[in-house]
Amino acid sequence: MDEKMVDALNRQLNAELYSAYLYLSMGTYFESMDMSGFSNWMRVQAQEELAHAMKIHDFIIQRGERVILKRIDSPPTEWESARDAFEHVYSHEQKVTGLINQLVNLALSLGDHATNNFLQWFVAEQVEEEESSSGVLKKVKMAEDSLSALLMLDNELAQRVFTPPTSTK
Ligand SMILES: [Fe+2]
Ligand SMILES: [Fe+2]
Repeated sequence: MDEKMVDALNRQLNAELYSAYLYLSMGTYFESMDMSGFSNWMRVQAQEELAHAMKIHDFIIQRGERVILKRIDSPPTEWESARDAFEHVYSHEQKVTGLINQLVNLALSLGDHATNNFLQWFVAEQVEEEESSSGVLKKVKMAEDSLSALLMLDNELAQRVFTPPTSTK
């Protein structure tokens, strides 16, 4: 594998771990606000990000290359409101989509079709990530002026469960 591709995949592995860290931090923020359903949604989101990181980890090894674990930045710890936090989730996911697109561009420029094929799972996953985060953001905006609506949304988000991704999904 081209060294540039290995470096870029290792950076993305770090970015996925940072995403997990960011969402765990949002989870503890919501826990401190006694919004345990919102916190649950973030915990599940963090587990998904760890699964993304492991997918990249395993692919690097499968290709006979070396995983290099770098320092993970500290995430923010406070947000102004549920809306502020979900605006952050949505913009963060849009940023990650940009990173995945850059990885695909690099794989194609190197003629690395195996890595391009691997990355297509992430291309599809980012469509879902943007859809789900913007979907919750819309609901938060609708509920933000009513405590009962916000509590109903908290109950809804408490239902989310983590399902590990399979090799094809
Ligand atoms: Fe991710
Ligand atoms: Fe994500």
